[in-house]
Amino acid sequence: MNSMFRIFGVAALLALPACGASGPGEPPLAGARVGGPFTLTNQDGKTVTDADFAGKYRIVYFGYTYCPDVCPTDLTKIGAALRTLDKQAPRIAQKIVPLFISVDPERDTPAQLKQYVGNFHPRLVGLTGTPQAIAQVAKEYAIAYMKQPTPSGYLMGHTEVAYLMGPDGKPITSLPLEKDPKAIVAELEHWVR
Ligand code: NI
Repeated sequence: MNSMFRIFGVAALLALPACGASGPGEPPLAGARVGGPFTLTNQDGKTVTDADFAGKYRIVYFGYTYCPDVCPTDLTKIGAALRTLDKQAPRIAQKIVPLFISVDPERDTPAQLKQYVGNFHPRLVGLTGTPQAIAQVAKEYAIAYMKQPTPSGYLMGHTEVAYLMGPDGKPITSLPLEKDPKAIVAELEHWVR
């Protein structure tokens, strides 16, 4: 217990100078094995690859449109944060593309995604694909998901995380979905240059 506190304390101290005026500091996910190439289909039925987002910061969130609670809550926060940035810092906002990647390709057709993503933000990109393509991209992003049968059909359990990826496709940090949209705005303003 004691040594854990000590390690935490040292880490916290080391992290402090990074918040100085010299720059945003070392990204929490620097060097993490998160991200990779993908070929998927967007909500307009167009083939989209990771290369289409080169040069853009990306918010990458995995979920599914039939999700009863977690996904809509998180996407509402992300959408609200982006709308705030659209108004108060459009130069930053326009560098960010939010991606919603389905872990339920069986039900999440492009048409299904199309009527869903628009509820949260006009720039939210919905992505689906073959079960194999989804399995691969989920693995690259360290996302676990599992079908959970219910009396009326099924739910998909899935990892809840919103990655902020850099213009080079490398991970920067995960966004604080447990907090309010203001905290997400602050995090985006910190990292997006
Ligand atoms: Ni969900």
